[in-house]
Amino acid sequence: MDIEDEKKIVAKKALKFVKPSTIVGLGSGSTAAYFIEALGKLAKKKKLKIKCVATSKESERIAKKVGLKIVALEKADKIDVDIDGADKIDNQRIIIKGMGGALTREKYVASISRKFVVIADHRKFVKDLRKEKVIVPVEVLPFAVNNVKKELKKLGAKTKMRKKNKRIFVTDNGNYIIDSEFRKIKNFKKMAVKLNNIPGVVENGIFLFKGVKVIRPKNLF
Ligand code: A5P
Repeated sequence: MDIEDEKKIVAKKALKFVKPSTIVGLGSGSTAAYFIEALGKLAKKKKLKIKCVATSKESERIAKKVGLKIVALEKADKIDVDIDGADKIDNQRIIIKGMGGALTREKYVASISRKFVVIADHRKFVKDLRKEKVIVPVEVLPFAVNNVKKELKKLGAKTKMRKKNKRIFVTDNGNYIIDSEFRKIKNFKKMAVKLNNIPGVVENGIFLFKGVKVIRPKNLF
């Protein structure tokens, strides 16, 4: 099956987690974009009174375009369900996010959500991330980039500044991203703590949430 079709299918499946009169977290990336479009249609058809919180300016733009009501992040203290994509996900529910650059808001929104639902096409699934080479996006304050790179190297990472159209990529929060490639991470929990302990690091793309629901295309593993 075509990858875009897979994304649309998992996006549509996630609609069942949206109940009337609730607050919905909108993830970022192309799979989340399909979900937002499908949610816009459903909300219109069923007259669902839902409010949405977006994890990026782009998701907010798409949501508004399809007629969804947006609540500012600072005004949402609890979110009923957050639906988001992923870059990698394994059988232990270790998730890597941030290839779209929205990891900080994505992690924050997931952390204040009662339910976190991940939608992903088959390319994102691996059996055990602890046995794989992995790239962890790390959002960094611009003035701290050089020192953070040194600290990341000490942790064993090969570092690369995120660029877009040959220019340094700037996140919605005005920060930079260092894509940090690790040959192997044995303990993701410890690594996530180590990364966030580096002064100047805003957030890292290791997502470890209990009870995460995963929607995947059928017949995988
Ligand atoms: C955005 O920062 C990411 O975490 C996305 O959720 C992730 O990159 C998945 O994007 P796609 O659905 O476009 O693959």
